Amino acid sequence: MARRPLMAGNWKMFKTVSESVDLVKKLKDSLSGVKDRDALVCPPFTALAAVSEVLKGSAVTLGAQNMNDNVQGAFTGEISPAMLKDAGCAYVILGHSERRQYYFETDALVNKKCKLALEQGLTPIVCVGEQLAEREAGRTFPVVESQVKGSLGGLTPEQAGKVVVAYEPVWAIGTGKTATPDQAQEVHAFVRDWIGRLFGSSIADGMRILYGGSVKPDNIDSLMAQKDIDGGLVGGASLKAEDFTRIVKFLS
Ligand code: 13P
Repeated sequence: MARRPLMAGNWKMFKTVSESVDLVKKLKDSLSGVKDRDALVCPPFTALAAVSEVLKGSAVTLGAQNMNDNVQGAFTGEISPAMLKDAGCAYVILGHSERRQYYFETDALVNKKCKLALEQGLTPIVCVGEQLAEREAGRTFPVVESQVKGSLGGLTPEQAGKVVVAYEPVWAIGTGKTATPDQAQEVHAFVRDWIGRLFGSSIADGMRILYGGSVKPDNIDSLMAQKDIDGGLVGGASLKAEDFTRIVKFLS
């Protein structure tokens, strides 16, 4: 099955409201002719509403970087899925390795968030990926397998069909050390195989699996040439209009 490519920019904790608006105005222009692939930006919470306003009528879509695992309530400092929808989001990144590492998010929590996001009409981008020590110990596959099972367990095939998975080897994030296309492809194929075992082969065939970790204009083409790589989750290079535009326009 031909999967529609998705390039997602994870802006992390960068950009004020006015800086966000500047960036997204440039992207709206530079990506206006792009029709055969999806482009997504995930600014910080504070800029979502303003960015959504700029993106009206554009093909670029909006997502958030995290959400709370409850519908609403006394959770000081947290943001609910309904608030994200209200601000114009269609997607939400869940279980990013920085959330797992610095805010102790577990597969069980990511799983709860994933189910809630789907119930609330947001498309989850669920992140998995091994740390350097795990790769060096030859544990990449078991680590990724348990993250996939733990984060997506209990979903119906219909729900799983709406999820995007991002494979982000932690050692490649922000380090300039990209996984080679072969290294990435190997894990993407492994993830797709597990999706097939859990939810059936047609769900596996249709699932978009993004690669993240030092994606740049000069390596995106070789990554996207791989059979099981359906897009990118881009950090640093998504903060520059020119670089992100080139990444969205891979192989064209
Ligand atoms: P970099 O592209 O800066 O390595 O970040 C990757 C990432 O964590 C995207 O979610």
